[in-house]
Amino acid sequence: MNLNNRVAVVTGAARGIGRAIAIELAQRGAAVVVNYNTSEAAAHEVVEHITSRGGRAIAHKADVSRPDEANALIKAALDAFGKLDILVNNAGITRDTLLMTMSEEDWDAVIGADLKSVFNCCKAAVRPMIRARYGRIVNISSVVGLVGQGGQTNYAAAKAGIIGFSKSLAKELGSRNITVNVVAPGFIPTALTDVLSEEQKQAVLKATPLGRFGTPEEVAYAVAFFASDEAAFITGAVLTVDGGLVMH
Ligand SMILES: NC(=O)c1ccc[n+]([C@@H]2O[C@H](COP(=O)([O-])OP(=O)(O)OC[C@H]3O[C@@H](n4cnc5c(N)ncnc54)[C@H](OP(=O)(O)O)[C@@H]3O)[C@@H](O)[C@H]2O)c1
Repeated sequence: MNLNNRVAVVTGAARGIGRAIAIELAQRGAAVVVNYNTSEAAAHEVVEHITSRGGRAIAHKADVSRPDEANALIKAALDAFGKLDILVNNAGITRDTLLMTMSEEDWDAVIGADLKSVFNCCKAAVRPMIRARYGRIVNISSVVGLVGQGGQTNYAAAKAGIIGFSKSLAKELGSRNITVNVVAPGFIPTALTDVLSEEQKQAVLKATPLGRFGTPEEVAYAVAFFASDEAAFITGAVLTVDGGLVMH
């Protein structure tokens, strides 16, 4: 699978899973726009990591929950590299608490960063992709979007929303040679999962047939596959990368 001459935007690519995705796509030949919101130094480190190995990358700051900033992010890719082939919507946050104690702000923040961001970036990206008659959109959901999780009604709603959104968009764009697929990771140790208690982590581990947590790189391999020409006949799919935690 090579991505030579492809141009990719990866949201939330300064750290965690997004960082691994940006590096994996670049290693396979894609020019990458490394989006960040607050992690500026880390984003520049990812760009340096890629360019020092002969790849092409730029960093671009955008809060993708905001339509104007998402538009500017896609424009940055077009301005820097002349086209956009691959969009990976990876940015996400959690604000875990029981519904009883969940504030409207907790709800809005997670829906904005995790779901509206996907709408914003896809809406900005589809026009150039339709014009080019080519596109690969990969949206990062979660197994929580498939099976739910107490304390995460906001996050589960956003992640399940991504799945319905992606299947619908796949139907809209199939005739234009644009695929839309979803990767749903299980438990991948990152800053996002640091907030969980040891007890919660051990419970996930016990329920995972492969008996370990995943790595950001293992999620990135699945994204690279969906982004490749080899995945040309796959759209509207949801691939779990979770060690067997959820078999749907
Ligand atoms: N880790 C897991 O176990 C797991 C499991 C299932 C799904 N996921 C999903 O995988 C994705 C990546 O998670 P992660 O574990 O790598 O988490 P992470 O290490 O906390 O990284 C989250 C990333 O999202 C970015 N981000 C958040 N809000 C943003 C916004 N409004 N605009 C632009 N970027 C924004 C952050 O950017 P800045 O740092 O620049 O602010 C950061 O790069 C998320 O969608 C998450 O829901 C993770």
